Amino acid sequence: MTRPRLYVNIDHVATVREARRTDEPDPLAAARAAMAGGADGITVHLREDRRHIQDADVIAIAESLPAPLNFELALSDDIIALACQLRPLQVTLVPERREEVTTEGGLRVSSRDARLRNAIRRLDEAGCQVSLFIDPVLDVIDAAKDLGVPAIELHTGEFSHRWREGTTALDTLRQAARHASELGLAVHAGHGLTYLNVQGVASVPEIEELNIGHSIVSRAMFEGLEAAVREMRRLMTDAR
Ligand code: PXP
Repeated sequence: MTRPRLYVNIDHVATVREARRTDEPDPLAAARAAMAGGADGITVHLREDRRHIQDADVIAIAESLPAPLNFELALSDDIIALACQLRPLQVTLVPERREEVTTEGGLRVSSRDARLRNAIRRLDEAGCQVSLFIDPVLDVIDAAKDLGVPAIELHTGEFSHRWREGTTALDTLRQAARHASELGLAVHAGHGLTYLNVQGVASVPEIEELNIGHSIVSRAMFEGLEAAVREMRRLMTDAR
């Protein structure tokens, strides 16, 4: 069985830099270290409020790192325009609320949503693979399929809160992943995954890619980013 890809989200490297609005630590250097540790790609989320990653970070990573980039963004015209200009391999559309601490729920998806359809069309025409970050709910997966995207990312936030209570949350992810795969969608997953809970999700055969940020950057403070990525990579490979 092929191992799931690990995309390392380096937003929180920029969070530390923005705490002082200085020039260290550098997200591009972090991206290089993550790739050296065995990441398959890099994920960044350019938020509307620019609280961590800045436009210049995305440009530097897209233009000078020879690695696949997954660019997360909300339906914001200027950020979609930047993505169309940079043409990363993948764009993941996410919901955004300014007051939230992190992306708290999946995208509301409807095939009648003209704004969403238009964003998907623009990004697709620019040559990006578009993925939608959605809750692991069968109707929502059907709606994503109706929108014509090739991929979805299942929100694992509920799983990461409940994984200690038993198998229900993982079963929900399993069913969602199977359903999406039967519809022909590529299945990714992420949010709240850690060294303790990643193996359940990584064992789901339909899940091709995991996006993991906070837990890896946290461990990196003690062990360095390269070693932190290498250990996450090992856990994911062993789970298959
Ligand atoms: N996937 C998406 C769509 C996200 O928005 C985030 C958080 O930015 C992640 C994955 C990574 O979540 P975490 O930092 O909890 O690993």
